[in-house]
Amino acid sequence: MTGTAVDTATPRLVRTAAELRATADVPRQRATVMTMGALHAGHAALISAARERLGPRGQVVVTVFVNPLQFGPSEDLDRYPRTLDADLLVAREAGADVVFAPSVDEVYPGGEPQVRVAAGPMGERFEGAYRPGHFDGVLTVVAKLLHLTAPDLACFGQKDAQQLALIRRMVRDLNFPVEIAGVPTVREPDGLALSSRNRFLSPADRESALALSRGLFAAQGAVADGADAALAAADDVLAAATRLDPPLIVDYLALVDPADFTELTGSAGSAGSAGSAGSAVSPGPIEAVLAVAARVGGTRLIDNLPLHLPSGAPR
Ligand code: PAF
Repeated sequence: MTGTAVDTATPRLVRTAAELRATADVPRQRATVMTMGALHAGHAALISAARERLGPRGQVVVTVFVNPLQFGPSEDLDRYPRTLDADLLVAREAGADVVFAPSVDEVYPGGEPQVRVAAGPMGERFEGAYRPGHFDGVLTVVAKLLHLTAPDLACFGQKDAQQLALIRRMVRDLNFPVEIAGVPTVREPDGLALSSRNRFLSPADRESALALSRGLFAAQGAVADGADAALAAADDVLAAATRLDPPLIVDYLALVDPADFTELTGSAGSAGSAGSAGSAVSPGPIEAVLAVAARVGGTRLIDNLPLHLPSGAPR
């Protein structure tokens, strides 16, 4: 914790599982919002959504925990921003009752967990292919935080669409007694999706990074003409950004089934690399997510947009 002292009366800051249990003193509905801290307006939207769903009598718990298990060896765990004082203010403004900010030892009392949740094939696609083991680490900590906070409802951002899909699947496959709610992505006025990583973007990086959201919205504008037209529209925007300074380096652009992240049609890394997949014809309208990941400067960004593919679209 750094900086000036904060009135932590509301939300109440608790550090241990025992303290957390003591906050469940009266029976009432509980919602959990899991975060790694560095709270921004996107997190505030999750907390507000939880508060709105539960009403004033429910209890909203925000967890702040930078989970070492979901960082790869080349990903800088130490670089992750830790801003608990500011986080408490955001949590308070958004309507949280409790902030649970445990230590690593509190969450992993036996050291590195020997038993973990395996995300399976769905966790190996797209983000999982670029970040091996990441989703096993995410699901393991989400499972633990669900056990520790025991909520009726847990809210997660649609910004991390593959994570959301995997959490929904884990809850279904492993019978967690909780409802999972997805909350729409919050964007800057120019379209950039809010992310804790945006703080690492220089003004020039940020200009290149805008291609992600611009590409997604270009696809949305073209989707009435079908999946391929949508993908081509996004691809054009991304390809142009690969020629900027600094260049956008696209990891993938893909149209996926939001339930399992299998590819509907698309081209991994198509802005300057691999080719296109699938061509079977769908019988009816398809709910899809257009997902993109790219690097600019030293920062890796993801974004996505739900799209409704017209009936009979190629898939
Ligand atoms: O989305 C995040 O911030 C994290 O992956 C989560 C869900 C809090 C688990 O550490």
